[in-house]
Amino acid sequence: MKNLFAKSISVVLLAAATVTVSAQQKATAVINADQGTYVINKNIYGQFAEHLGHGIYGGIWVGENSSIPNTHGVRNDVIAALKKIKIPNLRWPGGCFADEYHWMDGIGPREKRARMINTHWGGVVEDNSFGTNEFLNLCEELGTEPYICGNLGSGSVEEMSKWVEYMTFDGESPMANLRKQNGREKPWKVKYFGVGNENWGCGGNMTPEGYSELYRRYATYVRNYAGNELYKIAGGANVDDYKWTETLMKNIPRGMMNGISLHNYTFTDGWTNKGNATGFNEDQYFKVLENGQRMDDLITKHSAILDMYDPAKRIGFVVDEWGVWYNVEPNTNPGFLFQQNSLRDALLAGEILNIFHKHCDRVKMANIAQMVNVLQAIIFTESDKMLLTPTYYVFDMYKVHQDATMLPMTVNSPDYSRLNRNMKAISTTASVDKNGAIHVTLVNIDPKNDIEVSCDVRGAKATKLTDGQIITGKETGTFNTFDNPYQVQLENFKDAKFKNGTLTVKVPAKSLVTVELK
Ligand code: AHR
Repeated sequence: MKNLFAKSISVVLLAAATVTVSAQQKATAVINADQGTYVINKNIYGQFAEHLGHGIYGGIWVGENSSIPNTHGVRNDVIAALKKIKIPNLRWPGGCFADEYHWMDGIGPREKRARMINTHWGGVVEDNSFGTNEFLNLCEELGTEPYICGNLGSGSVEEMSKWVEYMTFDGESPMANLRKQNGREKPWKVKYFGVGNENWGCGGNMTPEGYSELYRRYATYVRNYAGNELYKIAGGANVDDYKWTETLMKNIPRGMMNGISLHNYTFTDGWTNKGNATGFNEDQYFKVLENGQRMDDLITKHSAILDMYDPAKRIGFVVDEWGVWYNVEPNTNPGFLFQQNSLRDALLAGEILNIFHKHCDRVKMANIAQMVNVLQAIIFTESDKMLLTPTYYVFDMYKVHQDATMLPMTVNSPDYSRLNRNMKAISTTASVDKNGAIHVTLVNIDPKNDIEVSCDVRGAKATKLTDGQIITGKETGTFNTFDNPYQVQLENFKDAKFKNGTLTVKVPAKSLVTVELK
């Protein structure tokens, strides 16, 4: 009897404990809908395509004679997928490849183009069949801004200068004439131009002082021809190399650079222990998302330096390589950097895009690495097949924030705890677009607990909840395959209401949700 009593007491206590645990899975938030100041630059949704693995060949370019349906040699399925998410800019041709790329090898009749070894990436033959004309025509087809990365590491000032002349000069000149000879009468519009890539490493192993001097010299001859004004981007720091940022800010005259970049990748443990893209445990899941949050600290500290030298915020911070980097998939060329892409990576992308939005007063562009078949790709291809990765759907869901005004939003979120460390389970973005529609995105990284967010929307004209979308999956490690391509995708979401200025959203564990208020 005594035993039975003790048992029922413990059942009651256990039930109470359970109630308490689930009662904690609530968050409160406030959006000040009438206090938006900064615009989320659409260029934060930029992409990156390098001559690396199947990033270009097979992934984008199949050639005009391919049996794979194509437009001037570029896969139609990839063009359609990219148009859908409105990619605002595309960085090319590298990466490390850029500082070994000689653009003249990639123009003129394709059968006559130089063949070279891609020393950085797998030692394969590069036949230069995808070059300047092919790239710029693709950007026109997509309605996206080209972002060219010039060769400062192994190329000459003359070569860089002539490239700009070839692409953008409208008139009589040796390079404009060469372009016309190659079938393109009018120049293209090229706005974004990077003066080198990772010049502290693969782009020449330079010091920041040495690079600053070279930047000044090269950028002088990167001309603004009539009707085409370039936005020149200096090759910025590796992760937390604040000295690099400060030296460039000190040594490069203001009028000579419009943007300064940062490269920061996310690993499970670090460069020497990147971890696997699939088959991970919860500790590894936690570490990737925790390391992803480092982007916030990096932007805060680099921005503080930029603020000292450029308080008016004229220089844009350009995170032109970001994303998660795992071990390559077994039985693939280690130089091709091919990795799977799971729901974990979608959550990471959402978390990092929310960080970029938070810093949108300074972050003017970002480029996830890389667009097709490489690292945190949004698209995979395999001969004539194409699939969209979980990360693709994040770019689809988040496109409503492109060029919208960021709204201040504060959240009081429960923690997601592991390894005796805590992270906030919920991260968010709220923005208002040109038509007055408010979009609220909530990312719940907690893999087990749904969280009900109750949000006070102040100062909004919106009265109705008009749409909802969700990305989630069975497990944090769920991924799409060619046999099973829709394990993780964008779906309709109904578990939200908006009444008397309070938005209530039940955000399922391991999910990204966006709702629209009008
Ligand atoms: O994205 C892969 C490589 O990572 C790029 O080529 C280089 O810039 C960076 O180190």
